[in-house]
Amino acid sequence: MQQINSFEAYIKAYQNSIDNPEQFWDGVAHQFHWTKPWETTLEWNFTEPSIKWFAGGETNLCYNCIDRHLPTKANQTAIIFEPNNPDEEVRKLTYQELYIEVCKFANVLKSLGVNKGDRVCIYMPMVPEGAIAMLACARIGAIHSVVFAGFSATSLADRINDSECKILITADAVYRGDKLVALKNIVDEALANCPSIKNCIIYNNRNENINIVPNRDLWWHNLLVHISAENTAEPMDSEAPLFILYTSGSTGKPKGVLHTTAGYMIYVGYTFLNVFNYQPQEIFWCTADIGWVTGHSYLIYGPLLNGATTIMFEGVPNYPNAGRFWDVVDKHQVNIFYTAPTAIRALEAQGTQWFEGKDLSSLRVLGSVGEPINEEAWQWYHKNVGHSNCPIVDTWWQTETGGILISPIAGITPLKPAFATLPLPGVQPVLMDANGNEITENDVEGNLCIKFPWPGMSRTLYGDHERFRQTYYNTYKNYYFTGDGARRDHKGYYRITGRVDDVINVSGHRIGTGEVEDAINTHASVVESAVVGFPHDIKGQGICAFVIITTPQENLEQEIKETVSKIIGPFAKPDRIIIVPGLPKTRSGKIMRRILRKIAEGDISNLGDVSTLLDPGVVVEIRRLAGVFRGGI
Ligand code: PRX
Repeated sequence: MQQINSFEAYIKAYQNSIDNPEQFWDGVAHQFHWTKPWETTLEWNFTEPSIKWFAGGETNLCYNCIDRHLPTKANQTAIIFEPNNPDEEVRKLTYQELYIEVCKFANVLKSLGVNKGDRVCIYMPMVPEGAIAMLACARIGAIHSVVFAGFSATSLADRINDSECKILITADAVYRGDKLVALKNIVDEALANCPSIKNCIIYNNRNENINIVPNRDLWWHNLLVHISAENTAEPMDSEAPLFILYTSGSTGKPKGVLHTTAGYMIYVGYTFLNVFNYQPQEIFWCTADIGWVTGHSYLIYGPLLNGATTIMFEGVPNYPNAGRFWDVVDKHQVNIFYTAPTAIRALEAQGTQWFEGKDLSSLRVLGSVGEPINEEAWQWYHKNVGHSNCPIVDTWWQTETGGILISPIAGITPLKPAFATLPLPGVQPVLMDANGNEITENDVEGNLCIKFPWPGMSRTLYGDHERFRQTYYNTYKNYYFTGDGARRDHKGYYRITGRVDDVINVSGHRIGTGEVEDAINTHASVVESAVVGFPHDIKGQGICAFVIITTPQENLEQEIKETVSKIIGPFAKPDRIIIVPGLPKTRSGKIMRRILRKIAEGDISNLGDVSTLLDPGVVVEIRRLAGVFRGGI
């Protein structure tokens, strides 16, 4: 595939991609394997919205990730598995071995009656079998829906039911650091309410004693006995659904973001190669979980599409100590390291002694993703991890965009700390003003939209196209609205300032305020709640909940936190609960979150215009309570 090798080449490729987008993406698409060529490159309108890339063509993502490389790379390592416990064994799968495992598992799924278009839920730890399950689905044309294994039983059940999954793939248990998470117990609780699930396949990860439901539950290893390793990848229509990934929005109900086959494949293949400037034989390590889009696009599909070696790390950054990331870099001689600002900040807080004795000289490129990286963390990362000679690619994108949209190209784009810099070829970002008009000048801030399709964009929300239209294509007519705010400097560089909607970003996890409120409101003593984000030194944002209760009782705050943990997952637990007598509402009953955000931030000197409030007195009281809570502000 073409690789951009100079800044001039980037400028040229970018201009070409804007002037002749179809010709540009045709050129990229021709680098992949197709069983039937496409008839039209792009058909689109943002009103419905309807977006089709490479219509009429047929291809298979799994074939392009594995089979295509076998003639030249059969013995090259595809996946390196680094276990949670560093004393346990590293596993390596070559492309040939991965091919065999994926073919076998594809046959397992078929033998269980999984057909093209059926939904398969994957609730797995970070083990190669998670990747094998995803690739096997793509191979047979089943739609995978990976649910992050930190979600609770209720969240898992909601997601399974929303897309009526037929099969659930999981593991007995997993260690995260020194904590054992009994995944199968969570699954059993979820499956009590999931009528669409016919079978649950369990990978034996920890040899834990688990409950087996006859006829429903099947061990992964038993299913592989006597199964053929011959499997032909199913030719898939370019626009055939590839996967669903649930993400949070403004309301409580998670959205099933749907990606389709060819456009996603081409986009993540192209962006992986170019953003990281990947060179043959390099070891690539993305620390994201396969349960999030970064794990899909840049831990599995992007690297494998390029015949790269990718690391899957089962553990956490601080186990057995805060030097673990650097141990892994040293042990596997990692060349490209891609992580989240929250991890960088957490490790920064532990001090630089954890670098002692660790050889990080193999590193060539560093990456950041998931939330804005503050300048201090950027500098620390650059100096201590990159020894001041590795470019940092601050990659901005979203679950909905499929792949990276705004980012430096490693070693090529001049960097500016805390700026995601320039759009990648094919991407046309714009900033909108308060009147819904495009801002043409630089040195301004506005709401970030994209005005032309790119192949990796989401096509719909599973089962709810109207919500898709409303959420992304209604605020600004004929634009995709990202939900983010951004600033553009005098050189045209973008700095993402954060969400402008009711989504908060906690340690890189995207959480809807409505989701947390719905969870809090299930507590019997809660009348109403309002959740906002506030700046947090390590997590980026923390969660603050203002809660109205029926009667005061001991430990209520703790109970409310546990309720959220139980309903969504431990990562969504509020940092602060503030019990209040009322919430600031407009006369039409809308909660004024702007005011709550300011109070949570501790910025109470100027709360802005409160004249539209139904009862301004309530603000005085909330302010007092928040002040008491925070030790007096
Ligand atoms: O607010 C932006 C933030 O993460 C949001 C997307 O979250 P999610 O769909 O979970 O995908 C995360 C991984 C791509 C965005 O709307 N975000 C992501 N990357 C950056 C970022 N904010 C600032 N800088 C980034 N590099």
